[in-house]
Amino acid sequence: MAISSSFNFLFAFLLALLSTHSSATFISITNRLSQCLNNYADPSFPISGLLYTPGNSSYPSILQAYIRNPRFNETTTNKPILIITASHASHIQAAVVCATTQRLLMKTRSGGHDFEGLSYVSYMNQPFFIVDVFNLRSINISIEHETAWVQAGATLGELYYGIAEKSNTHAFPAGVCPTVGVGGHLSGGGYGNLMRKYGLSVDNIVDAQLIDVNGRLLNRKSMGEDLFWAITGGGGVSFGVVLAYKIKLVRVPTVVTVFNIQRTSEQELSTLAHQWLQVADKLDNNVFFRMRLGLVNNTDGQRQFVLIFHQCT
Ligand SMILES: Cc1cc2nc3c(=O)[nH]c(=O)nc-3n(C[C@H](O)[C@H](O)[C@H](O)COP(=O)(O)OP(=O)(O)OC[C@H]3O[C@@H](n4cnc5c(N)ncnc54)[C@H](O)[C@@H]3O)c2cc1C
Ligand SMILES: *[C@@H]1O[C@H](CO)[C@@H](O)[C@H](O)[C@H]1NC(C)=O
Ligand SMILES: *[C@@H]1O[C@H](CO)[C@@H](O)[C@H](O)[C@H]1NC(C)=O
Ligand SMILES: *[C@@H]1O[C@H](CO)[C@@H](O)[C@H](O)[C@H]1NC(C)=O
Ligand SMILES: *[C@@H]1O[C@H](CO)[C@@H](O)[C@H](O)[C@H]1NC(C)=O
Repeated sequence: MAISSSFNFLFAFLLALLSTHSSATFISITNRLSQCLNNYADPSFPISGLLYTPGNSSYPSILQAYIRNPRFNETTTNKPILIITASHASHIQAAVVCATTQRLLMKTRSGGHDFEGLSYVSYMNQPFFIVDVFNLRSINISIEHETAWVQAGATLGELYYGIAEKSNTHAFPAGVCPTVGVGGHLSGGGYGNLMRKYGLSVDNIVDAQLIDVNGRLLNRKSMGEDLFWAITGGGGVSFGVVLAYKIKLVRVPTVVTVFNIQRTSEQELSTLAHQWLQVADKLDNNVFFRMRLGLVNNTDGQRQFVLIFHQCT
């Protein structure tokens, strides 16, 4: 977010130099942050029981629960000074206000599928804390209106399952991996098996709840169309913290046909890939035909390329 200004970076860098990363410094930063959060939080929704600091025995499991890239699961990976497991909008509002007043880098994590670990890692040892929204994962579906409100901490799998429980003729166009989070995915684009017919996830978002840099809770009307446009494709974290999206459900047939084919012989690969390129974009929009390049071990234990074709109609 805007909070991570270059001033903040310089400040953290000088601080790191002066303190040579002493844990005493981090503890005092953490204490100040905890105090601020407790002061700002709405007393009807206490925040103290939602804060995890490195000394807490549950801290490692809370941190690791949504680390999806083992590369950033090392003892050498830079760790947050605090994790807020927000369960109410007011907790996120307090976090944003305290990050701003204390000039601290704040990370927002939903499904944790960021390829570079940006939702839970900082670089150059810059002190940071995480607002983790896994407690905010409710999904309210209205088949009658063909819409749903889904909170950022829900996964795509939970969303698909929730829709399927209510209707076998509705779906939502989004990615193929069920553990990807709504918060990162819907703010950034979202492509998947339904994209030829219905476009990206962001083409099917009708409203949102966002906490902006000043800690205000906004919807589409109060944030305005420019900001709404930004958080439906531009990546949410550059603009605030998304609490929930209202999505438009799309209609699907009760029966779909699916196949997977793998081909490994090298000669066939280039021919097949070429043929796929000729037809993939010309098929009827009810057909989605995907080609993926992968690696498998053959019977001699040699690694070889494989082309995997998926079709869904
Ligand atoms: C195994 C795998 C499969 C994937 N498959 C697909 C696919 O089929 N189609 C596709 O389009 N993409 C796919 N992706 C990419 C995925 O959509 C993005 O990485 C997405 O940003 C992950 O969202 P997340 O909430 O899980 O991740 P996070 O790591 O939690 O967040 C990703 C980014 O969004 C920010 N963010 C998270 N929550 C919020 C919030 N509530 N408000 C504001 N900002 C927030 C984070 O700070 C971070 O910068 C895949 C990724 C992986 C690792
Ligand atoms: C760890 O933090 C949680 C959440 O704030 C708190 O409920 C728990 O008592 C803490 N545990 C220890 C051992 O400090
Ligand atoms: C992270 O490491 C811990 C052990 O330190 C392990 O239990 C956990 O499964 C690892 N998670 C990932 C995603 O690699
Ligand atoms: C769903 O409805 C419940 C109960 O009314 C509410 O607490 C929750 O915030 C709603 N979730 C969303 C994403 O609108
Ligand atoms: C292929 O073999 C290598 C080395 O034996 C092994 O590490 C890898 O997991 C295997 N990959 C698959 C897809 O089976």
